[in-house]
Amino acid sequence: MEALLEVKNLNVGTGASEDDIKILNDINLYVNRNETVAIVGESGCGKSLTALSIMGLLPIPATKLISGEIKYEGKDLTKLSEKELNRIRGKDIAMIFQEPMSSLNPSFTIGNQLAEVFKCHTRFSKSEIKKRSIELLTKVRVSDPEEKLSAYPYQLSGGMRQRVMIAMALACNPKIILADEPTTALDVTIQAQIIDLLKELQQEFGMTILMITHDLGVVAETCDRIIVMYAGEVVEEGRVKEIFHHPRHPYTKGLLDSIPIIGKPLERLNLIKGNVPDLNSMPSGCRFHPRCELATNHCKDSKPGIELTSGGRSVRCWHPH
Ligand SMILES: Nc1ncnc2c1ncn2[C@@H]1O[C@H](COP(=O)(O)OP(=O)(O)O)[C@@H](O)[C@H]1O
Ligand SMILES: [Mg+2]
Repeated sequence: MEALLEVKNLNVGTGASEDDIKILNDINLYVNRNETVAIVGESGCGKSLTALSIMGLLPIPATKLISGEIKYEGKDLTKLSEKELNRIRGKDIAMIFQEPMSSLNPSFTIGNQLAEVFKCHTRFSKSEIKKRSIELLTKVRVSDPEEKLSAYPYQLSGGMRQRVMIAMALACNPKIILADEPTTALDVTIQAQIIDLLKELQQEFGMTILMITHDLGVVAETCDRIIVMYAGEVVEEGRVKEIFHHPRHPYTKGLLDSIPIIGKPLERLNLIKGNVPDLNSMPSGCRFHPRCELATNHCKDSKPGIELTSGGRSVRCWHPH
């Protein structure tokens, strides 16, 4: 079966030539229809840039696509014109961003911003747009939806703004949603409500979701498969159960061991020592070796590869568990 979304050998750098520093190195991933796939990894590992690459929204000129394919329903999005891409973006592929405050325009009402999405992709009349907007806000459980249409973003709480963002993403019934840490900016209770909402929408519409998060609790609850990224590379991939029960990459194991114990949120076990390496000083060989307890000289000298197997399990490590 063909994947709905497939990223093949994606390389993104600070510039487009081989001499520029690579930020994303040979990323391969796929998302099947109706699947919820998580990308996890510490901050700075390249998760957001991966999503932005898929959307064709890389921050230019700071970052450039060097090479690779981004196939949506078999079509390579990197080959499309901006106009063709605009037809797909928002309609087939929608994104929920990390910071709802910075992605909602502060000077337009919620109603204006929702209407903008409809105007881009449909020929709905004004009254039709209003009706649909209220339906959407109701669906994402925004209270007093009709009133909220004339509110400005600053008049809503963080949780409500994130619901509005989800409503905007859902507006044109996208086939796939990329959610970049959709709950990070919210407090714990609201986070749980947003995750429940995403789960419901996923079940109701059989939606395909690529979810970026550093919260492994969220992953366990909502996702089918996990892609682990470290320092701009995919280091492990597999089904959620397999990864949780038998993490093979020492980095994955480290992440799992860092999950706070339920009921004792302050007791984090075995936090991985050290930090994600800086772009300008990528370690030789395996990029994780300076932080890895299992590292040998071989890990320092040569770079382990990774092969994606469909539905299988893959790991980029010389000494997997
Ligand atoms: N606009 C940018 N220009 C240059 N470097 C960037 C830019 N955005 C992100 N980076 C760098 O790319 C790397 C990956 O960033 P990002 O994708 O935001 O990570 P994550 O989402 O996993 O926290 C980081 O090293 C970050 O410093
Ligand atoms: Mg990010």
